[in-house]
Amino acid sequence: MRQAGRSLPEYRSLRAGVRMLESCRQPDLVTEITMQPVRRHGVDAAIFFSDIMVPLDAAGVDLDIVAGTGPVVAEPVRTLADLDRVRPLDPAAVSYVDEAVRMLTAELLATPLIGFAGAPFTLASYLVEGGPSRNHTKTKAMMYGNPQLWHALLDRLADITLTFLKVQIAAGVSAVQLFDSWVGALSEADYREYVQPHSRKVLDGLADAGLPRIHFGVGTGLLLPAMAQAGADVIGVDWRTPLDQAAKQVPGHPLQGNLDPAVLFAPWEVVEREVRRVLAEGRTAPGHVFNLGHGVLPETDPTVLTRVVELVHTLSAR
Ligand code: CP3
Repeated sequence: MRQAGRSLPEYRSLRAGVRMLESCRQPDLVTEITMQPVRRHGVDAAIFFSDIMVPLDAAGVDLDIVAGTGPVVAEPVRTLADLDRVRPLDPAAVSYVDEAVRMLTAELLATPLIGFAGAPFTLASYLVEGGPSRNHTKTKAMMYGNPQLWHALLDRLADITLTFLKVQIAAGVSAVQLFDSWVGALSEADYREYVQPHSRKVLDGLADAGLPRIHFGVGTGLLLPAMAQAGADVIGVDWRTPLDQAAKQVPGHPLQGNLDPAVLFAPWEVVEREVRRVLAEGRTAPGHVFNLGHGVLPETDPTVLTRVVELVHTLSAR
């Protein structure tokens, strides 16, 4: 969740003068950036440094990741003819991912490496809008107005995502996380009709790999059961839904989450109280991976993050 290092001075200095997508193509840089928060904070797992847009870039879509804005697509996908520009992903086009994962697993030893990809809906929202969007109007216009084109686009994105995750799995990641960050913009009925079959294609396609499949979105309080039914093992929850409520919605599923990233700007007493609450609520689930409820904000004080990790370790060791 964009947390590898945006708040770390050592990340900023490594990235100085290197564009985001360019940094993702350099296995040495990817390895070093992925290791930085593990070394500094002593977290229990590493998240692979990359971006959800990397496989689309590798599949030939003309795009950029602009600092402070996010992904920007040069020619948005709006018609059947535009679909031709979304090519299948050749695993050889992301050989730098394969290489970086191998370098990392050699360095991390027993610390798990979490691989990831963007889910079809969230990728489609960037492709159709051409960039970040508040109301996803163009995306929804295609979804409702041309369902055939919509399903063809999402099917293609599901194949790209599946290929991208299989590359990471073959190279040795221990778990995968499928990010459907913006799917909370949909009602449950629309999610089931327009999105779930495509997310299921990705998640079911990984079933044989036998590693945990984590699925996360923002504002998904009402979508959690449908997201679990898409084939996820672990459900990521944003900060709006208390974990004990989420646990009731998706019985049998371990949860990941969900400290509000903005709480890290509050006085320490508040941070501690909120960490304790998240851990207590997480105990009602069959398993709990402590995490933030969305990405670390760039202005976050990294020393607070280190204290949070220490506190979680102390409290969960009991
Ligand atoms: O946590 C990590 O740093 C691991 C790697 C990671 C990144 N992006 C690196 C990144 C992961 C897991 C992502 C996922 C991602 N990217 C998602 C899904 C998770 C989520 O946060 O919702 C989404 C929606 C994106 C698309 C994207 N990429 C956005 C919205 C942005 C932020 C733009 C900004 O500057 O505010 C990016 C850029 C990005 N991806 C950064 C990082 C570290 C920051 C850019 C930079 O350092 O220059």
